[in-house]
This record gives sequence, C-alpha cells and structure tokens, in this order.
Amino acid sequence: MYTQALDVMSKQEIAADRRPVRSADDAAREAAFEAHIADGGFVEAKDWMPDHYRKTLVRQISQHAHSEIVGMLPEGNWISRAPTLKRKAILLAKVQDEGGHGLYLYAAAETLGTSREQMIEALHSGKAKYSSIFNYPTLTWADVGAIGWLVDGAAIMNQVPLCRCSYGPYARAMIRICREESFHQRQGFDSLLTMMTQGTDAQRAMVQDAVDRWWWPSIMMFGPPDDASPNSEQSMRWGIKRISNDELRQKFIDATAEQARVLGVALPDPQLTWNEARGHWDFGAIDWDEFWNVVNGHGPCNRERLAARVKAADDGAWVREAALAHAAKQAAREADALRAA
Ligand SMILES: [Fe+2]
Ligand SMILES: [Fe+2]
Repeated sequence: MYTQALDVMSKQEIAADRRPVRSADDAAREAAFEAHIADGGFVEAKDWMPDHYRKTLVRQISQHAHSEIVGMLPEGNWISRAPTLKRKAILLAKVQDEGGHGLYLYAAAETLGTSREQMIEALHSGKAKYSSIFNYPTLTWADVGAIGWLVDGAAIMNQVPLCRCSYGPYARAMIRICREESFHQRQGFDSLLTMMTQGTDAQRAMVQDAVDRWWWPSIMMFGPPDDASPNSEQSMRWGIKRISNDELRQKFIDATAEQARVLGVALPDPQLTWNEARGHWDFGAIDWDEFWNVVNGHGPCNRERLAARVKAADDGAWVREAALAHAAKQAAREADALRAA
C-alpha cells in the first residue's frame, strides 16, 4: 500500500547505479521509448525498455510488495484482541488483503525478470527497503483504526496515480489494490468514529493518543520534499510517478483535516490552519531527521519486523519444500502415464 520509501535506494544500489554508456542504437531506442511514454503509451513485460527503467521499477515494485507484507504485522498483532466479532472479521479481511497486495506486486515485479527468491532475500538481508511507517508500534486498539484512516488513506493518495503508471502489469495490479485500500480507509475511519461518538471518555482519549502518534509518520509517507527527492524527476518523465511528493502530501492533508473535524479529533500540529489565499491547509515543519532515522533502520520496531518476516519464511520452508516435492512427483507421474499411453 505504501510507497513512501519507494524511491529510496540502498547504498549498494547507489554505487551500482551508474548509467552505462549507450550505443547509438540504444540511444535511438530509448528516444522512441520515451516518445511512446510521452504519448501516453504503456509498456508491457516483453517490450524493450531501458535498463534503468527496468531497475527503477523492480526497486519500486518490490519495495512496495515488501511494504504490503511487512504492513500485515502491526495490525496482525491485534487480530486476537479485536473488541468484537465484527471488528475481528473486518481486521482479518484487511490483513489478508495486504497479503494479497504483496502477492500481486511480487508477481508484477517478476515479469521484469527478478525472481521472488531474490526479492525476499533482499528484504531479509536488509538491502531492500519497505515503508518505514510499519516500524512504529501498535500500542492500543485505536492504532488499528488510525492506521486504516491515516496510513491506508495516505496509501490511496499515493497509489491512485500509480494506476496510470507506464508499466502495464504494475498499473493493473494497482487498480485492484486501490479498490481494496478504500475499504481499508473507510473501516479505519468507521472504527474511530464509533469510539468517538459512542465510546467512553477513555476510548476517546485512546483515539486522540493514536492520532497524535500516527499523524506525522503518515504525512512522511509521501517521501522527502520534492527538492530532496533525487529520483523523482526521471520517474516523472518515465510515467512511473505522476504527481510529486509535496503535491500528494498537500492533497492528503487537505482531505484529512476536514475528516478530523468530523471525527472530533485534533491533529497534533499547532500550525495546521486553512489558508484562504492558497486554497489549502498550511502545516508545520516535518521532522525529516526522524524520517531518515527510521528509513535507515533505527525506528522503534525495525528489528522486530524484519525478524518476524525471517522467522515466517524459515517456519514456512517445509511447506514450500513439500509443495515442490509434490509437484515434482505429480509431473513424473504424468510423464509416466504419457509414456505408457
Ligand atoms: Fe495494501
Ligand atoms: Fe491497506
């Protein structure tokens, strides 16, 4: 769901990311490719594409996929403690959706020639990034609602433009994902609204506390400011990115400030004020040191999240081995039957 870290490269990638010298043929093909995209054309898996375009997409789509499955962890933590059967069923469905999003996205990245194993290995070794929003803990039940409202809400803002991404398999995966994300956002808002309008004082205080903790990390999900976002310009030209980080962040803040009023919660930013002349909400300074600190592995839950993913892969190894052994046995049986016929 979460595209914040998606144009963040690891140190190894930055070192390897020198664009090779191109032949005249490649330069001509690249010019034709760019003209096709500028014309609104899509690129499919088997089409020629510049190496750099392929690499950028593999990085972005795989980081997006990792974000979906790491994103299952903070909320999964509350499935067994959901307050009612209805909320438990909703949360189960949502967490399962996120697993599905990971699956579509790994499959889309695989069409670019990178295997699932390589991508998972990059996640587990810490080489690949995922959205750092999931390195914050879910301390109370209200955090589940706040994630739906704010984190999935920010994800939708980020992802709707990706439905028009120039790479066809990614764009198509995003159309399906966005439909589900809007359900995620609404269930979060509904859960918070129920507590705010029908709950106790303690529940209302719990909602406010969750909003206080999730607000700033949510608006960091749009990534660094445009003037500090080195890969954005190229991604815009290639139709991978359609709207800038700052523009999306402003759209999100404008929409959310109104929703906060309906909910009856205060957003933790004393500088948040409506600016009539701009037609937008002004907001205070974002703590980018905190953002980079968490992206670089020092958030409250980075270690815990990665350890949970590695453990899940290790614990599930026997299932993958058994499935492969079963498939091999079946293929051998079918080959025998063909020979006998
Ligand atoms: Fe998602
Ligand atoms: Fe979601």
